[in-house]
Amino acid sequence: MIRNIQTIIPGIATSDGAGVKLRRSLGGQNQVRLDPFLMLDEFSSNDPNDYVAGFPAHPHRGFETVTYMLEGHMLHEDHLGNQGHLKTGGVQWMTAGRGIIHSEMPQQESGAMRGFQLWINLPAKEKMKAAGYKDIQVEDIPTVQLENNGSVKVIAGSYQQGEKEVQGPIQGISTTPLFLDVHLPPNAEFEHRIPKELNAFLYVYEGDLEVGGPMREIPRQAAVVLGDGDRLKTKSGSAGAHFIVLAALPLHEPIVQYGPFVMNTRAEIEQAIDDYQNNRLVIA
Ligand code: FE2
Repeated sequence: MIRNIQTIIPGIATSDGAGVKLRRSLGGQNQVRLDPFLMLDEFSSNDPNDYVAGFPAHPHRGFETVTYMLEGHMLHEDHLGNQGHLKTGGVQWMTAGRGIIHSEMPQQESGAMRGFQLWINLPAKEKMKAAGYKDIQVEDIPTVQLENNGSVKVIAGSYQQGEKEVQGPIQGISTTPLFLDVHLPPNAEFEHRIPKELNAFLYVYEGDLEVGGPMREIPRQAAVVLGDGDRLKTKSGSAGAHFIVLAALPLHEPIVQYGPFVMNTRAEIEQAIDDYQNNRLVIA
């Protein structure tokens, strides 16, 4: 059964960190989310004034952050002493767990800075696990060439091409996330299985795309939530399309969010604030 469009969540212009301009779809207005996805930001600018101040040191607790750089160079530093250079095409997968304090600062004073930051919730039993961090360089992310001259980057989960299963570098996460970046030439089709247990959405960042059966055109720069089914069916327009596909198992647990802390109860949020104020958020 082909998945059709369920909801469209437009990316709304906002800013975060030290004034970095971005578009927030999931996690934006009314905190609309798609379990277990909490937030999706797209940052895209050729004007250094929009990004140069970056994201100075700030905490997180209770979930994972995934940064995918389409273009540009950022330096991540955290309290564990990790240093990571996020460069064009690379991914950073950070598990905040019980707590991490990090900064993400642009390493360029001109040119384009473009990419995504996605927040994925952790199940209650993993919210207080030790923080972890993984830097994945562009050469470690498999790219599958399609017969129609398109391509698929497999960041998390796997892509099935005929008999062959291509696995992305991110595996072993309990919500079994799928994260693909698909590039299609003009008027090309792309289909893929997305198991029916997973919640799924698409985000078109370039070009035009139609989705579903029957096909419906979807807007660019919006999180397009897909309904029931087990198959994604898309077709690009005359300019081709670049889009990301995200899917993961829902947690069905209560969510209480206070800025960069995402827990299950108010008491746990109060604990997080208290821990942060008294230097107990992180374990060095
Ligand atoms: Fe952060």
